Amino acid sequence: LDPQGAFLIQDHQLISASEETKIPAESLLIYEVVRIVDAACLFCQEHFNRLKFSSKLAGIQLNISEREFRSDLQQLIEANNCQEGNVKILLQYHNGTQVVYFYFIPHSYPSADDYKHGVKAAFLKAERLEPQVKIVQENLRNKANQFIQENGLYDAILVNSLNQVLEGSRTNVFLVRGKEFYTSPAKHVLSGITREKVMACLHELGYSCFEKEIDCESIADFDAVFFTGTSPKILPVAKIGKHSFNVDHKPLRELMLAYDELVAAY
Ligand code: PDD
Repeated sequence: LDPQGAFLIQDHQLISASEETKIPAESLLIYEVVRIVDAACLFCQEHFNRLKFSSKLAGIQLNISEREFRSDLQQLIEANNCQEGNVKILLQYHNGTQVVYFYFIPHSYPSADDYKHGVKAAFLKAERLEPQVKIVQENLRNKANQFIQENGLYDAILVNSLNQVLEGSRTNVFLVRGKEFYTSPAKHVLSGITREKVMACLHELGYSCFEKEIDCESIADFDAVFFTGTSPKILPVAKIGKHSFNVDHKPLRELMLAYDELVAAY
């Protein structure tokens, strides 16, 4: 599990994180990652709903209620005396039995410099098996992590066999041309909570956002590119391979401000 902090929660019970938890190898693992801000879970209801949605698509009837989800999270935050960080909620399903874990995990929040100057990305030909389900897919994760490390990237941008831009290995991807924003249709990717919030922010700001398949060969036609996700929030991409992008693109910077305000007001 690799839990951070002194305590984790297993089936609503607070236990010491040093106690060994065994997960049968054949288990189906569905998960969520939530962000803790000021000792509270950001967009808690949305994350619970997605856990339920992922379970349903995987054929599992989730046996934890939203009330239990919230109270387990709160108990974990208080026991670890944590103000900021990421919590992983892992649903382990094996032989008809489900166990739900809550535990703090190391996060990869970008630095102030990353937000200012943008990060590096590169395309990786790879597809998640069931893109709409937040399910642990060890092989793909390992392949992406190796690629990210070897090339010094923040994340890899997954591209399918038709050369279409999908999403990051742990983020969603948006492309901007002038005042128009583009992202891959929800049927091809994880419907990120941040992605949803960003689309709502764009609507509020009066910018158009299109869910459209984009050919990775046409990347040079875009002014700006950014990742969205629980950890990075909205993170400008400076480079994809040899292509550079404008990290100071005005509509993107406006969106970043609007999103930070949304989080601050939550
Ligand atoms: N990753 N796409 C994929 C494949 C993801 O794994 C994630 C999240 C996202 C962004 O979703 P959200 O905005 O809800 O975080 C998109 C989590 C955080 C992770 O694996 O750590």
